[in-house]
Amino acid sequence: MHQGAGQLPSLVRILILGGTGEARELAAALVTAGTDVLSSLAGRVRDPRLPEGPVRIGGFGGVDGLVAFLKAEGITAIVDATHPFASGITANAAQAAIAAGVPLLVLRRPEWDADPAWHAVPDIRAAAAAVRDWPGEAVFLTTGRRDLAAFADDDAHSFLVRTVDPPDGPAPGRMTLIMDRGPYTVEGESALMRGRGIGLLVTKNSGGPMTAAKLQAARELGIRVVMVARPALPHGAVAVATVPEAVRWVERQP
Ligand SMILES: NC(=O)c1ccc[n+]([C@@H]2O[C@H](COP(=O)([O-])OP(=O)(O)OC[C@H]3O[C@@H](n4cnc5c(N)ncnc54)[C@H](OP(=O)(O)O)[C@@H]3O)[C@@H](O)[C@H]2O)c1
Repeated sequence: MHQGAGQLPSLVRILILGGTGEARELAAALVTAGTDVLSSLAGRVRDPRLPEGPVRIGGFGGVDGLVAFLKAEGITAIVDATHPFASGITANAAQAAIAAGVPLLVLRRPEWDADPAWHAVPDIRAAAAAVRDWPGEAVFLTTGRRDLAAFADDDAHSFLVRTVDPPDGPAPGRMTLIMDRGPYTVEGESALMRGRGIGLLVTKNSGGPMTAAKLQAARELGIRVVMVARPALPHGAVAVATVPEAVRWVERQP
């Protein structure tokens, strides 16, 4: 699928907005193809998994900052391969691409197949409300450290919280923290949830295989699942679901 070095016109320069496994896979494929590519990370994670090829780290300074960056760097196309819940940068990229006249592709892995047993909620606040209404005790929270504030005033439940980096804002009072970032196995997730007496799992619909094991484990153990729906893509976004499709889109860039 990879294009050979020298086949793309030299004026193509791709910005990958990253922070996901797919972004790293895409960077690797484009570097192998000899494409001029620059990956961008937000700088939120202390020890990020770095993509192949050149990388810059840190925010751009909103839409205007990103537009200025695109021009200064001579970027000819953008692939937004950020996490499905990183809606701020996705919205900024959509606006900046229009303002700068640069084509934009969104690479979003598919959602997990909906399970009728899940309690689907539209956002993290609704997830916190669903937890408050739940009469059980032990909750497994895998929605990320920046979403902990929504659960901070819930003293009725105990929370097993798993994050990549330690929380630095409001968090539930009765919290046990595990720092890990997968991938996880069904056996490991089952042992963890059974061992901690978990009755309810709260997760965002991130999709992908890296963190899906908890869902099968929950199914097998009869643990309830509160599933937070993804934010919508910007209106008119051109999107693909896989890295090979994104590579083909890049290959078509003039
Ligand atoms: N949200 C999640 O659950 C999650 C999970 C795993 C990984 N991630 C990754 O972590 C990063 C931050 O996620 P978030 O939810 O905090 O994002 P966000 O709320 O959508 O973005 C907030 C701000 O962070 C900066 N930013 C975000 N992604 C960037 C990137 N790839 N390169 C440069 N600046 C970036 C931008 O700052 P400026 O306005 O200053 O440009 C953006 O306005 C994303 O790149 C995402 O792929 C997020």
